[in-house]
Amino acid sequence: MSLRYLTAGESHGPALCAIAEGFPAGLSLDLALVDRDLRRRQKGYGRGGRMQIETDAAQFLSGIRGRVTLGSPIALVVWNKDHQNWKELMSPEARGGPRFTRPRPGHADLAGVQKYGFDDARDVLERASARSTAATVALGGLARQLLSRLGVRVCSRVAAVGEVERRREAPPTPEELVAIEASDMHVEDEALAASWRAIVDRERARGGSIGGLVEVFAEGLLPGLGSYVHPDRRLDARLSGGLCGIPAIRAVEIGQGTRVDLPGDRFHDPIYWTAERGYHRQSNRAGGLEGGVTTGAPLVVRAFMKPIPTMTTPLATVDLDTREPAQARYERSDVCAVPAAAVVAEAVVAWELAGALLEKFGGDNVTDVEKAMEAYAARLR
Ligand SMILES: Cc1cc2nc3c(=O)[nH]c(=O)nc-3n(C[C@H](O)[C@H](O)[C@H](O)COP(=O)(O)O)c2cc1C
Repeated sequence: MSLRYLTAGESHGPALCAIAEGFPAGLSLDLALVDRDLRRRQKGYGRGGRMQIETDAAQFLSGIRGRVTLGSPIALVVWNKDHQNWKELMSPEARGGPRFTRPRPGHADLAGVQKYGFDDARDVLERASARSTAATVALGGLARQLLSRLGVRVCSRVAAVGEVERRREAPPTPEELVAIEASDMHVEDEALAASWRAIVDRERARGGSIGGLVEVFAEGLLPGLGSYVHPDRRLDARLSGGLCGIPAIRAVEIGQGTRVDLPGDRFHDPIYWTAERGYHRQSNRAGGLEGGVTTGAPLVVRAFMKPIPTMTTPLATVDLDTREPAQARYERSDVCAVPAAAVVAEAVVAWELAGALLEKFGGDNVTDVEKAMEAYAARLR
C-alpha cells in the first residue's frame, strides 16, 4: 500500500483539513516543524493582506500518540482565522453577500461555473484558491520528517522573478540555506533579492503581478526510486504531476530538461567507475533522474509559476448575469507569491519522494523500512 492523502477546505471556510494514510509506525515527529513549514509558506515579499491575518498552525487529530506515529491515518486541521470575517458568506450554514459575477481571467472562475452549473463564481474560487496549499505544506512537513529519518534532505530556492533569472545546478550549501530561509525572496544572494523586490514594486505600482521560477533539490537519495517499467511509476511523471497540481504552476523542468538546444554530448552525464567511488558521474545534467528512476545524484527539479491572475488593474471579462463587458472583480491578492510557491513545491517533492521510498522499502514500522534500505544499499555496494 502506498502513501496517499486527501485534503478538503475552502479558502474562507472554517478550516483546511488533510488525512495522510500510509506512514509507517514508530516515526518520532517534531510537530513544531510542521508549523515552521506553514509559517515559511506565509512569508515572502509581494504577499497580500491575508497573510497578516493568518498565523497558520496544524492541529493533529489522529494517527500520532506521544509524538510517535501509530501507522493509522494522520488527520490534521489548519484553522482559518479569517473565517470570523466571512461567516455570513462562507459557512456550511450561510451563503449571504453579493454574488461574484465577474469571473477573473487566469482563474478557474468561469470554467468552474460552467462545469458545475453555478451562478456565483465564489462557489468555485473558494476551493480553487491557493489557500489549499497550506494543507499541502502540512502534509509535506510530515513527509520531510520521514525523509530526514531515512537520510534524505529536501530544500528549495527561488531561481527567477520576472525577467531576472539565476539557476543553480547543485543544491545550496548549509550556509546558503540559512541565508535562503532568512530572505524574503527565498534566495541566498541579497543583491538578487533586491532586484526581484524592485520588479515586484514595479508591478504593484502598475497594478500588475509577476511570476517566476522555483528550484527544489533533494540529497541523500539511493539509486532506484521510481521505475521505468510503466509510465505511471516513473518518478519524473509523479513529480511533474504533483508540481503541476500546485495552483499557478504551468511547467516543470527536471535537470537541464528544457535545454533542447544542446547536442547529446552536452546534455547527458557520462558514467565512470572507480574502486573507491563505484559508479559515478562528473556532472548531473539529468537532475538525478534517468528513465524515471533516481540515479543517486541530487534531484534537481524546477517549477514555473505564472503571474498572479488577480490584479488591481483588472483584465476584461463578461458579467455572468448581463453578458455585458466588465472588468474582472478584484479580491485581496498577492502581487508575487514565488517564494511561497517554492515552499509548496518543496512539500510536494517531499511527499512524492516519501511515497517512492515507501514503495521500494515499505514496512509497517520505520525500522523495517530502514533495514530494507540498508540491505538494498549493501547489495548496490
Ligand atoms: C502560494 C500561492 C499563492 C497564490 N496567491 C494568489 C493570490 O493571492 N491571488 C491570485 O489571484 N492567485 C494566487 N495564486 C495563483 C492562483 O491560485 C492560480 O493561478 C489559480 O487558482 C488558477 O490556477 P492555474 O494558474 O493553475 O490555472 C497563488 C498561487 C500560489 C501557489
